[in-house]
Amino acid sequence: MTTMLSGAVPGIKTGLKFSVFILGVLLLGSYALAAPGAKPADKQLKQPAASELVGSETCVTCHEEVSKGFAENPHTKMALMHGKSGITCENCHGAGKEHVDGGGDVTKIFNPAKASAKALDERCLSCHAGQHANFDRSAHAKANVSCISCHSIHKSEEKATLLKTAQPNLCFGCHNDQKPQFSMAFHHKVNEGVVSCSDCHDPHGTFGKSNLKSTADQNAVCTKCHMETRGPFVFEHAAVRAEGCVGCHTPHGSQNARLLNMASITTLCNQCHSPVGAGAVHGQGAGSNSATPCISCHTMIHGSNLSQAFIR
Ligand code: HEC
Ligand code: HEC
Ligand code: HEC
Ligand code: HEC
Ligand code: HEC
Ligand code: HEC
Ligand code: HEC
Ligand code: HEC
Ligand code: HEC
Ligand code: HEC
Repeated sequence: MTTMLSGAVPGIKTGLKFSVFILGVLLLGSYALAAPGAKPADKQLKQPAASELVGSETCVTCHEEVSKGFAENPHTKMALMHGKSGITCENCHGAGKEHVDGGGDVTKIFNPAKASAKALDERCLSCHAGQHANFDRSAHAKANVSCISCHSIHKSEEKATLLKTAQPNLCFGCHNDQKPQFSMAFHHKVNEGVVSCSDCHDPHGTFGKSNLKSTADQNAVCTKCHMETRGPFVFEHAAVRAEGCVGCHTPHGSQNARLLNMASITTLCNQCHSPVGAGAVHGQGAGSNSATPCISCHTMIHGSNLSQAFIR
């Protein structure tokens, strides 16, 4: 832990200088660099140096309310490190001696809630970068949605993950547009608690678009639950690979059964197969001119080991 922390010092300092530089640029009227502006509180971020530490027992004497709930916090594990001499409060708030000597001088302690998103995120990532290496490139980081937009260290509804509010309400708080999609006639049961947003998305950022969890095979976001569609099949339906599942399905919710993109399956298929007609099979009243939906014969639509035409 010490190594991680001291390793992070130069990074944080450089980050601060960089932000101050950008602030200057912004004041000059340039808009080319859309970086978050540094805030005065950022300067209070001090790395704990042994001689400046007071230990959490001291913090408790004045911050009983905050400290009370901390016993259950996963961050108490920090106290067990280094032969149980690890520090807790000061890992996030910086060394506290000056703050304490000043009788609680608020200019001498780092309050993450008053800091810029960037300085705060750097603080958290000094330990959590291993888990969330893609955070900086996420849509969230770019929009200054910081760790504490979603997490609360001292007041969390979900204790294990320290989420401010449980999903999906946490996400709907900002993504109101998506909310009605999960009430449509057919939908992934997110409100019912069966599936959660973070089953498909990683809010901490990924290499994929839409913060979708990235995997070597992008369809794996879906096939980890829908294993029967995964394959490999002797006869692959090229559409599944080429377009992905969202080529035919709307992931959040749809008015169409099976979350299909289109009300008419014939129309859906004929986007790529038009016009299916005159062949021996389709010419006899079946197929595109018929009321019989394609999938009543092509039942193995995601791929088959027996039939090139996916009819079994
Ligand atoms: C001697 C009493 C005392 C001790 C000991 C103490 N604090 Fe404070 N602390 C205060 C007071 C007073 C305030 C201001 C409270 C307010 O304005 O509501 C404060 C405010 C804070 C704030 C909020 C700062 C802000 O910008 O509003 C943080 C964070 C904080 N303390 C953390 C700590 C930590 C961590 C420790 C232990 C290293 C600690 N305090 C020890 C008295 C103390
Ligand atoms: C994992 C990082 C972390 C640790 C460890 C931590 N805090 Fe905090 N603290 C925060 C964050 C982040 C905030 C900003 C408010 C929030 O998100 O809950 C905060 C806010 C505060 C505040 C201001 C409260 C307010 O209502 O404005 C005080 C005081 C405080 N912490 C004291 C402590 C004390 C005392 C400890 C040790 C028992 C401690 N913190 C441990 C991250 C931490
Ligand atoms: C000094 C290192 C350190 C810092 C700084 C730190 N954490 Fe942690 N965090 C930990 C450790 C250690 C755990 C416990 C991990 C475990 O249970 O195995 C933890 C646990 C968590 C968890 C619970 C989920 C889990 O993996 O158990 C969340 C969420 C979390 N931290 C978020 C934050 C946020 C947000 C911040 C910044 C406000 C932050 N952390 C700052 C070390 C740190
Ligand atoms: C947009 C919301 C959001 C933001 C911003 C966010 N998190 Fe999370 N975080 C979550 C959710 C949701 C989970 C729970 C994921 C789950 O249950 O699978 C989580 C889980 C975690 C965990 C537990 C380990 C894991 O991956 O499940 C850690 C640690 C954590 N977050 C740290 C951070 C840190 C550090 C930051 C800032 C750099 C951050 N988070 C920013 C929403 C967010
Ligand atoms: C079953 C997997 C899955 C679940 C669960 C899920 N999403 Fe998505 N989400 C996707 C996919 C796939 C896309 C990309 C859609 C596309 O490219 O057409 C997406 C796109 C998005 C987008 C980008 C805008 C848009 O609508 O295309 C947002 C925002 C979003 N999801 C938020 C959420 C929120 C919030 C939740 C939880 C309430 C959630 N998602 C649950 C799979 C899912
Ligand atoms: C504090 C507000 C906030 C919260 C909470 C939040 N988001 Fe976001 N989210 C944003 C902003 C701002 C953006 C970037 C602008 C945009 O694309 O809407 C974004 C972007 C996204 C995107 C990418 C959209 C795209 O078009 O590429 C997805 C997916 C997403 N969020 C999912 C989630 C999920 C899942 C949760 C809950 C775990 C969540 N968000 C919680 C504010 C938030
Ligand atoms: C976390 C597991 C999970 C993930 C990930 C997931 N799903 Fe689902 N999906 C479900 C569950 C559970 C149902 C509901 C089954 C039911 O209601 O009987 C469902 C239903 C469906 C249905 C409707 C099935 C029917 O019989 O009506 C389709 C289509 C579907 N999912 C496609 C997708 C796609 C596409 C993705 C990826 C974007 C995806 N799913 C990701 C769990 C998941
Ligand atoms: C070429 C269009 C197409 C693609 C691509 C596609 N599906 Fe489907 N899917 C369908 C059709 C059509 C149905 C309806 C079948 C029925 O009603 O018998 C369906 C049905 C489903 C069902 C309901 C259960 C079942 O097997 O009938 C699930 C779950 C599903 N698809 C998941 C997926 C997943 C996951 C992917 C990506 C790996 C995917 N689909 C790709 C067209 C497609
Ligand atoms: C996004 C485009 C797309 C959609 C939508 C689509 N397909 Fe396909 N399908 C293809 C491609 C590409 C092939 C491979 C064609 C080839 O190899 O000549 C294929 C192959 C097939 C084959 C096997 C043809 C052969 O080689 O014998 C059948 C049967 C088929 N599709 C039926 C359907 C049905 C039924 C639907 C609607 C549920 C559908 N497809 C939707 C693109 C699509
Ligand atoms: C009554 C059953 C039936 C219906 C309905 C049906 N098909 Fe077929 N289709 C077949 C059979 C059987 C074959 C295989 C013929 C063979 O193996 O020579 C086939 C072959 C195909 C092929 C590959 C050969 C070719 O003609 O290109 C495609 C593509 C195809 N169907 C698409 C569709 C689409 C799209 C629909 C809906 C518009 C549809 N089918 C409706 C039974 C049907």
